[in-house]
Amino acid sequence: MKIGSVLENQVLEKRIAITPELVKKYTSLGFEVCLIENYGFHLGINDDEFKDVGAKIINNESEILDISDIIVQVEMLSNEKISNIKQNQTIIGVLNPYKNKEQLENLAKKKINLFSLELLPRITRAQSMDILSSQANLAGYKAVIESFANFEKAIPMMMTAAGTVPAAKVLVVGAGVAGLQAIATAKRMGAIVFATDVRMASKEQVESLGGKFLTVEGSENLETEGGYAKEASDDFKQKQEKLLSETLKKIDIVICTALIPGKKAPLIIKEKMVEHMQTGSVIYDLAAIQGGNTAYTEVDKVIKKNGVKIMGESNILNKLPISASNLYAKNVFNFVDNLIDKENKKININLEDEIIEKTLIK
Ligand code: NAI
Repeated sequence: MKIGSVLENQVLEKRIAITPELVKKYTSLGFEVCLIENYGFHLGINDDEFKDVGAKIINNESEILDISDIIVQVEMLSNEKISNIKQNQTIIGVLNPYKNKEQLENLAKKKINLFSLELLPRITRAQSMDILSSQANLAGYKAVIESFANFEKAIPMMMTAAGTVPAAKVLVVGAGVAGLQAIATAKRMGAIVFATDVRMASKEQVESLGGKFLTVEGSENLETEGGYAKEASDDFKQKQEKLLSETLKKIDIVICTALIPGKKAPLIIKEKMVEHMQTGSVIYDLAAIQGGNTAYTEVDKVIKKNGVKIMGESNILNKLPISASNLYAKNVFNFVDNLIDKENKKININLEDEIIEKTLIK
């Protein structure tokens, strides 16, 4: 069996799906690993590092796409690349079926098995494959680093002979995977951290990290059976707005992470709330690409409103692509490991396995 990967559109995506560390593991599963020349060059990984662990480096992209039984990528392939794929191959990546309809139709004509990893069920057995968690963890961390770098005051409390510098106050909106990592990172750097969420289960998690949970009084728990958030009612939204409007007046940095699966991100920090924030405050909107949690968010821009900086990026993971690739590639390997019939050395699409059934695009 051959497993291959080609370059992503590197303007948009710097992560890679196979790292040298994983080549040996694929080899012991019975794969030959085929990579395009300079596959990891932009991350400081030379072809020799891949070759030394047994990968085959090929300088022809169409050949890799043609010979690989499994193609692993981060993003969906372009239509041009898809034209080089034959029949009955398998593609694994973050294929974003709602966004990439045209490519999906082209691939469906070729009877390609498509596995989209953002559709993985959040079950214990899938944790080692969970790209949403591994990447959200890094995004939460990096959002704190980016916002702190844009904040023109110190973060931890400092007592000096010249006087005391107060600790910065951080609010994390949405305490899922990214939010919890943001809380942990901000705490480690000495900030005072507040957080809020619509899921009551997150209160205990926030508090265990040393954050103060802000509860929207008299509200119901908006958690689905799958552990995700439900869309809030108008009553909830009003109560949340009142609570946050007061809180934001004394907050220096806000990290927004609130998402509802399959929907536009909820607008939580409105114009008026930004207007009442202190000059010099920073908002990092991790939900920017899904529409943003903040009124003024514009993707890949730093907007200044009344002295408040509002920022959000299309792909914050491009700012730590090596760490992100290391985790992503391991997630993908664990997925492939579960997909293979090891005795007969072939792909086994067992639809009774929830992990396979949920990620397969039908
Ligand atoms: P997500 O990225 O969909 O949303 C981020 C956070 O925003 C969530 O905590 C959500 O409740 C919150 N949110 C949505 N609307 C909001 C609003 N209006 N105001 C405030 N907060 C709002 O969620 P993520 O981070 O992917 O986590 C989803 C769930 O999955 C969590 O319960 C998490 O613990 C669980 N999980 C379970 C795993 C497992 O293997 N069992 C693995 C990873 C996550």
